[in-house]
Amino acid sequence: MLHNGPIGVFDSGYGGLTVFKEIVKELPQYDYIYLGDNARVPYGTRSFETVYRYTWECVQRLFEMGCRLVILACNTASAKALRTIQQQNLPELSDLRRVLGVIRPTAEVVGTLTQTGEVGILGTQGTVASGSYVIEIAKFFPEIKVVQEACPMWVPLVENNEFNSEGADYFIKKNLDNLFAKSANVDTLVLACTHYPLLEEKIRKQVPANVNLVSQGEIVARSLNDYLLRHPEIAVLCSSNGSRQFYTTESTGSFDKKAEIFLGHAVTSSHLEL
Ligand code: DGL
Repeated sequence: MLHNGPIGVFDSGYGGLTVFKEIVKELPQYDYIYLGDNARVPYGTRSFETVYRYTWECVQRLFEMGCRLVILACNTASAKALRTIQQQNLPELSDLRRVLGVIRPTAEVVGTLTQTGEVGILGTQGTVASGSYVIEIAKFFPEIKVVQEACPMWVPLVENNEFNSEGADYFIKKNLDNLFAKSANVDTLVLACTHYPLLEEKIRKQVPANVNLVSQGEIVARSLNDYLLRHPEIAVLCSSNGSRQFYTTESTGSFDKKAEIFLGHAVTSSHLEL
């Protein structure tokens, strides 16, 4: 007999809350557990092996807490760990579990948003170096040109509450200048890191008015809704009492303060020791 359980939403830190917020808005009926691996953030500068090991460890903990479906609300984990988890780990399990990422749903829509046929990807070093967006976008929109820029300072700015500072303006300008130097025709910029929506206002001020800024939260939420409609065998494994639980591998005090900024309401998290 298969037991149902909450939907797990995982990120290396707080960034996944930008996706969590939209998923909960789109599908409020389900139970959710958010897990932020704040003790080991950032993932963006770490090797493939390390990101895979950390991510699989956290996904297993979400499984132990009863989740049957886990969303990797982190581009870096989606780029570096998802395929191995889907192709090697999940088939070895004795019961049905699913892990989904954020890159494919974004790649599926991005080509419909550009007029010039040129898309810019702003992400962590790990996401950019993996080439995952270039590969995934080419599957759906082979004619589209993709340019990328790694923005290694942006996650620390968000994690350290400096996203409204002048320092943030400096690093945003530097990376946007680099990206537009690679191609001035980019008219669609993907915020391909779930931390970046907190910098959106500042990014908007520094890009031409015709440029679309694409945040992933709503895209991933719609795609999950669609997935559950197409996969009723997975939807029945998701319990639906409308509960939300938050876990962090770091201090709960700082998680609660920070999560409130991301979500716009107070949360009470629990500590998870890995
Ligand atoms: N939020 C993660 C992402 O979407 C990255 C943060 C990190 O570097 O850990 O890529």
